[in-house]
Amino acid sequence: SDQATMNPQSLGFEAVPGGIEDRVILPPGYKADVLFAKGDPLFSGLPSFKNDGTDIDYDSRSGDEHDGMHFFGMNSAGQFDPDVSDRGILVLNHENLEDNTLHETPTSKADAISNGNLLELKKIVDREMNGHGVSCVEIRKQNGKWSVVLDSPYNRRLTIFTEMDMRGPVAGEDFVKTKLTPTGANRYGTMNNCANGHTPWGTYLAAEENWYAYYTVGDIAGLSDKHRAWMERYGIRGNGWNYRQWNLIPGDQYERFRVETTGGSATTDFRNEPNLHGYITEVDPFRPTQKPRIRTTFGRLSHEGAWLAPVKEGKPVVFYSGDDARREYMYKFVSKHNWNEADRNGGLAAGDRYMDEGKLYVAVFNDDGTGVWKELSHDNIELSGTHTYTRNDNSWDYTFDTEAEVLASARLAADVVGATPMDRPEWATVNPQNGDVYLALTNGNTSNRPASSTDGANPRAINQNGHIIRWREAGGDHASTTFDWDIFLFGSDADASSDYNVSGLTADNEFSSPDGLFIDPRGVLWIQTDDGSSGIRSKTNNQMLVAIPGEYGDGESVTVTTADSDNQASIETFVGQPAEAVKLKRFLVGPNGCEITGISMTADARSMFINIQHPGEGGSKDSFNTNVSVWPAGSRDATAFGEGGNRPRSATIVIYREDGGEIAL
Ligand code: FEO
Ligand code: CA
Ligand code: CA
Ligand code: CA
Repeated sequence: SDQATMNPQSLGFEAVPGGIEDRVILPPGYKADVLFAKGDPLFSGLPSFKNDGTDIDYDSRSGDEHDGMHFFGMNSAGQFDPDVSDRGILVLNHENLEDNTLHETPTSKADAISNGNLLELKKIVDREMNGHGVSCVEIRKQNGKWSVVLDSPYNRRLTIFTEMDMRGPVAGEDFVKTKLTPTGANRYGTMNNCANGHTPWGTYLAAEENWYAYYTVGDIAGLSDKHRAWMERYGIRGNGWNYRQWNLIPGDQYERFRVETTGGSATTDFRNEPNLHGYITEVDPFRPTQKPRIRTTFGRLSHEGAWLAPVKEGKPVVFYSGDDARREYMYKFVSKHNWNEADRNGGLAAGDRYMDEGKLYVAVFNDDGTGVWKELSHDNIELSGTHTYTRNDNSWDYTFDTEAEVLASARLAADVVGATPMDRPEWATVNPQNGDVYLALTNGNTSNRPASSTDGANPRAINQNGHIIRWREAGGDHASTTFDWDIFLFGSDADASSDYNVSGLTADNEFSSPDGLFIDPRGVLWIQTDDGSSGIRSKTNNQMLVAIPGEYGDGESVTVTTADSDNQASIETFVGQPAEAVKLKRFLVGPNGCEITGISMTADARSMFINIQHPGEGGSKDSFNTNVSVWPAGSRDATAFGEGGNRPRSATIVIYREDGGEIAL
């Protein structure tokens, strides 16, 4: 098959202008097809997708809000083979729901609640719980076109109802026993799966990001101070988070979303339900009868994803994972076990070996450009003794009595060891050419960080456009506990003053709120954006850019200030080369209201899969968002305008060159 070019030093496409159009815009010579849109069936014989809010069988169709994704090449024996570029299993997350377009009317759910219509409400709640989760879908390329293989034995949906096994130190602990899962050895569902990861042993990792927002908190008078501190630190509190209200339906599968101690004990109520979520879910696409396994060694966080460092025979397996919330931290997991090539294709059994024992670390970014990974384990004496969590004049004492408790309250442990709060850690990626790690810090505001409290790694007083930081582990060893960092790029409006537009962005590459990051196997960097109203959305829809990333340390030390603020602060930091030097340019602009997220590429670099998430978002709440977007409607050409009054749909698209050549070169 065709070989991809390793370590290219130039890009061969014409930059796409920024713009606001209800379609996907690509460079000349490129095409994109809609491959798998919300509601698309996994099996034949399903009723056709009506997209009018009445469809109920999302456990057999694509869910909503496509996010993180990975393509797993498959050989003719049905085994994982990353070198296969024309057949494989695409695995993707359905992060959340577009309420406006999912149900019959934007007020269907509120109406059912206020009318006390439980039968109707259950239909709505089941639709929502099945619209979440993960899709595994076999796809094939024939005559140059990719399509879904209906009825493939690999096709399946994981939803909020799917049973999964708890693994690692947290499994079976008293604090994860509930009325529905009284042994603490299992749980149901995976939710708010934002970004992802994949393993060298052929499995997929789905991260749980804003899982805490699904709980309603009732009477928790019976909760210990320690577990109350956990609830507060993770934002599970009050009725303010009465978000999806699944708990209104009778039955344990639904009532578990209301946290209460009124049953009297852990196995007669749902006081512990939130302790079962916030980890990493491992899925084996090639063994569809095996239940997913929850890897608790990664700690309980708002995990954006879990990104593998390239494996080396005889060296520990390492994953990076950011906690995506304002002023949260960057983590890594270092396996106790060294990589053994014999475990390629090992599936979940290999996952048990590499992911159930190891150490969790959290990052400290020093202002002098150095950094330290602090160990979060019961062995760390910094965690011994009693600590206190304070919020709004209330305080709760807590201790770390076991390894499982350190993992289940990883945020509190990270607080204690003095981790560096960041401007929202989103995706990370590791350069396969040189081991440099890149992390998107999507943006910041002053609601959780005073403008004056900048630091070298988060140097902007008001960071409305975000930045990308990178580091090199000491000795190039991903298990190392020290590193050196610099800032690769700053997002900005190209028209901002030069002391804010630090990377010298131009009309061809201005961007804001970096989120998805991917250095492909060739060493080409892809940046996807999730920009909002404080960014550059009045100039361009969300987008994807490409760069040749260079290396850690090839820039200089500069002073960064903040534009458009009365509250100016400045700090000296370490900044990589200007955007021009890393050849940054825009490759794609998405339809109206969407976010660009999820990215994977075939080994031959001829097919790229990305997700168009929530086109139409931002529409008025009494419409179906069609005033903002109808993309892609019934069209399978992603670059065409949608036609007709259909509701917009999240979708996976596949990008390719009309001449069959390598993408971006
Ligand atoms: Fe779901 Fe952090 O983006
Ligand atoms: Ca994201
Ligand atoms: Ca985001
Ligand atoms: Ca999103």
